[in-house]
Amino acid sequence: MPNSVKKQYISAQRVGGQMPPRLKLAQLPTPLQPLQRLSERLGGPKIWVKRDDLTGSVLSGNKVRKLEFSLAQALAEDCDTIITCGGVQSNHCRATALLCAQLGLHCHLVLRGNEVQVPDGNLLLDFLAGAEVSFYSTAQYQRELDNILMRVHADYKKQNRKAFIIPTGASDAIGVWGYVEACAELKQDFIQHDISPKHIICATGSGGTQAGLTAGVHRYGIDAQVWGVNVCDDEAWFLNKVNSDLVDWERRYHTGINLESLSVKVIDGYVGAGYAQAGQQIFTCIADVAKGEGLVLDPVYTGKAFYGMLDQIENGLFGDSGDIVFIHTGGVFGMFPQRSQFAF
Ligand SMILES: Cc1ncc(COP(=O)(O)O)c(C=O)c1O
Repeated sequence: MPNSVKKQYISAQRVGGQMPPRLKLAQLPTPLQPLQRLSERLGGPKIWVKRDDLTGSVLSGNKVRKLEFSLAQALAEDCDTIITCGGVQSNHCRATALLCAQLGLHCHLVLRGNEVQVPDGNLLLDFLAGAEVSFYSTAQYQRELDNILMRVHADYKKQNRKAFIIPTGASDAIGVWGYVEACAELKQDFIQHDISPKHIICATGSGGTQAGLTAGVHRYGIDAQVWGVNVCDDEAWFLNKVNSDLVDWERRYHTGINLESLSVKVIDGYVGAGYAQAGQQIFTCIADVAKGEGLVLDPVYTGKAFYGMLDQIENGLFGDSGDIVFIHTGGVFGMFPQRSQFAF
């Protein structure tokens, strides 16, 4: 990418030298909307939804906020190729592939899962965006991911290309900024709607969204507890991952935040049979919310998290009054390969 174009993309949003470069890629601010009917029916707190499923059409979801920082860093380091990884229906990989196409970067996706005859959902969009795709069996991927990424990186070096590796879900010190800065937007939303939510709930899959929100509420003076509903693994895994992303972030950027004062909380118990495997109650919940509120969730991330939030409302975790916020992190394309799970 010529320097002139690169400069155009990188915005000068450094605050006291603490912030990394950022690209303007997402459609922001996203709306904050109340779910009036559902909240009234439940008789608990009023549920608001931060519509980060609207960060773009094919770029929808939470990953774009993180990639504004990860891809800016790649450009700042003069890279021409992006390597990233995820499941075969990864929303993160789809968003990365499309943004690479938008920025004129080569994209190589290392995917966990089998090659299919007819690509569907996110994978179809990966191919449409011209990404180079390598498939690995789940066992090999889990055993060797770091080595695979290093090998792919070395192959590009041999071709005189400069590649930049973005880890799973862009959940690392750089990607954390995406949801730290989303909190500046949330603060404005709360002022505009004159609300003071005490709880913010999101799906957590690789931890970066939750890490960013947890640090962001502190940085922007929002008095709310952030809860991640894990969609895979368990509470211990996420406490460790979110905390270590936060430590890496602070080590890299020296924002001066007191990490001890941050409260990392996970709501476990809604994973079901495993990652991307949802029980029938999740599909029923998705259909109810779509019909009742016109809000479309997905079976891998937001459906599980939303269902978990509703269950915890019934258990009284958030109290029975006041406002709570669900971050809709997108994921609609992951629904199509699971279409047969819906009974109409
Ligand atoms: C739609 C959607 N929601 C939530 C998440 C979870 O975000 P994170 O990976 O930052 O935990 C992801 C990605 O993993 C996602 O694709």
